[in-house]
Amino acid sequence: MDRFEITGPTRLEGTVTAAGAKNAALPALAASLLADGTVTLSGLPVVQDIRTMSRLLEHLGTETRWDGERLALTPSGTAVKDDADYDLVKTMRASILVLGPLIARLGHAKVSLPGGCAIGVRPIDQHLAGLEALGAEVTLEHGYVSARADRLVGNRFRFAARTVTGTENLLMAACLARGTTVLENCACEPEVVDLSRLLTSMGAQVHGAGTERIEIQGVDRLGSAEHRVISDRIEGGTYLIAAAISGGDVRLAGALPDDLRSLLDVLEEVGCRVEAECSSIRIAGGDGLRPCSIETAPHPGFPTDLQAQYMALMTQAEGRSTVHETIFENRFQHVPELNRMGAAIQVDGGHAWIEGPTPLSAANVMATDLRASASLVLAGLVADGTTIVDRIYHLDRGYERMEEKLKALGADVVRAQA
Ligand code: EPU
Repeated sequence: MDRFEITGPTRLEGTVTAAGAKNAALPALAASLLADGTVTLSGLPVVQDIRTMSRLLEHLGTETRWDGERLALTPSGTAVKDDADYDLVKTMRASILVLGPLIARLGHAKVSLPGGCAIGVRPIDQHLAGLEALGAEVTLEHGYVSARADRLVGNRFRFAARTVTGTENLLMAACLARGTTVLENCACEPEVVDLSRLLTSMGAQVHGAGTERIEIQGVDRLGSAEHRVISDRIEGGTYLIAAAISGGDVRLAGALPDDLRSLLDVLEEVGCRVEAECSSIRIAGGDGLRPCSIETAPHPGFPTDLQAQYMALMTQAEGRSTVHETIFENRFQHVPELNRMGAAIQVDGGHAWIEGPTPLSAANVMATDLRASASLVLAGLVADGTTIVDRIYHLDRGYERMEEKLKALGADVVRAQA
């Protein structure tokens, strides 16, 4: 099992480029199942979750072909298998994204229930209720969701909870439904907008993606398309926080500042200098960091996927800050590990109180999920001595060559075998 050995403290300096967004690439890969033709994707990040989704699509009968950095996906149409089994789904919850496309294209699908997850229960009831509203017959049996419909029929559906992959699943399913679908209380994340752009270039009729109300006029067929996924705002945001925590000066190239507005506002408030241009962001850390309290929220609010990294930053701020996690009920697993490095963080339910500044000292720490791992790496950058972050496979699910990118910014990070 790989681990990172990070020797600090370090000051990061230089330019880093964000990879393609994992959470935009995953639905884009799933959307290829809808095509009567070939979907060619570029800008896919080289991370484990993308390999897992490609394997799942191959299992479902899709022919995949790499040509340089472009991946061409050709589903085998009516002959595709309809079952996504537990062994593939258990390693990645986003596998549920194949449910909507499969039922829309084939009229039937069988996908393993994703099961437990370190950051919370994460139900999929809204995905299923939405598909039922479009006329699918859904049954849960032996740990699998089975769904069936001769052809989905457009309808009005209001999500009871704002869900990103739920919105994406329904959006994909509705594209091939008969008639018009109106989805309300939709997730407005940039990844939903990116998916809608791909579906539109495949021939879908989608209006309103990026707002709470999306209207889809169903079509009989979707065809071939080429699409480049947007850059990863969460990966990019992680490097911006790395710049801030290390008092460094880092330019994030290929970034979309509007997608990171909530983070940039907070970084400015804590005392960083923020320069945002049309496709790059520069962060220069100030002398002393001010505390600033945040609450996670659906886009355009502060992303839950940057909460753990931000908490590492607040351990270095002068004073008390609070973090309120409103999206997932168990997303504070980085806290005991940060405290072992010298942080002073208390948790009660969805609230955390951080007293700063606390000098951090190197320790052996354990990654528990993707973003918690990133937070420990950031803490390691400013801790005195060599921090060992174990179970880096969590990090490899969503960060492309993180150690190389950090090294290029001047960090002392080594990937080693445990
Ligand atoms: N929820 C329901 N019912 C549902 C679906 C969701 O109650 O049917 C609740 C969840 O329990 C949660 C809230 O709605 O409280 C939001 O969950 P959401 O469905 O939006 O999460 P997701 O779609 O499973 C995506 C990202 C996550 C990110 C969340 C929130 C992908 C592949 N995953 O998950 O990314 O944290 O949205 O923004 O897009 C990560 O990359 O580290 C990651 C966990």
